[in-house]
Amino acid sequence: MTDKTVRKPIRKAVFPVAGLGTRFLPATKAIPKEMLPIIDRPLIQYAVDEAREAGIEQMIFVTGRGKTSIVEHFDVAYELEATMRDRAKTLDVLEPTRLKPGNLVTVRQQVPLGLGHAIWCARGIVGDEPFAIFLPDELMIGEPGCMKQMVEAYNEVGGNLISVLEVPEDEVSSYGVIAPGKTLDIMGGALTEVTGLVEKPRREEAPSNLIISGRYILQPEVMRTLEGQEKGAGGEIQLTDAMAKMIGTQPFHAVTFAGRRFDCGSKIGFVEATLALALERPDMADEVRAMVKRLVG
Ligand code: UTP
Repeated sequence: MTDKTVRKPIRKAVFPVAGLGTRFLPATKAIPKEMLPIIDRPLIQYAVDEAREAGIEQMIFVTGRGKTSIVEHFDVAYELEATMRDRAKTLDVLEPTRLKPGNLVTVRQQVPLGLGHAIWCARGIVGDEPFAIFLPDELMIGEPGCMKQMVEAYNEVGGNLISVLEVPEDEVSSYGVIAPGKTLDIMGGALTEVTGLVEKPRREEAPSNLIISGRYILQPEVMRTLEGQEKGAGGEIQLTDAMAKMIGTQPFHAVTFAGRRFDCGSKIGFVEATLALALERPDMADEVRAMVKRLVG
């Protein structure tokens, strides 16, 4: 049975974009990882589009040194637009980069101490509301998008939600892993209770092969939990550890995303996403397919 009390809507999303992107060096020495494009849209654009589709209004970027271009991307480019107008070029292509004035907020994470710390840096802007989190290097492709599916689930059960997917057992130790409880009899079995969470477990200690995949809806109490959070796996302040402490005090569910996820924080995932999306684009699919055939002989 689900509790259908009226929920506070999810109006705010936090995008932690202050990481160093070391797996992509030297490309990410001067360019943020989140600005690397899959074809012609930077990763951050895909995440912001997904947030807007889910009805989220305010985008909160947790940035750091060298990340200014992410904010520029969502600003008005006056000279560019004036020149394009003079040359009678359409500005439609820039439409997704426009956010309403006041709907983009940035806070700085002065030292990259980990994802949990990055989220905590946004506490003053998040305030006393439930909020979404997007890790922009995880590209989620689906119809509806991943966050829209999660907001639907949130409207059913409230509380905290994370998006999960199944991976082969030998990959679990690279991720946050859930201990699943009962599966709910709604949304086609896509909603499961979460009874525990562990960050980067050893394969033999992993409670399942369901990994947390880059999208969250959390209650504001997580900020207080993060406040006292010690360093965890990798010497970083882990969001997973703070969420684990909330289980049992608030509802906690996992949503199995009906769609595809590409790990664009890794080079192989990035190449896969580029190819997969190019093969689906009507303006280039035929040429790309022919090119792939030629390349693989
Ligand atoms: P990742 O670990 O995937 O990103 O963090 P990274 O540290 O930038 O990349 P590598 O491992 O060195 O290649 C997941 C998300 O959390 C953000 C990152 O920007 C990324 O979006 N993050 C991570 C922060 O904002 N601050 C941190 O201290 C750590």
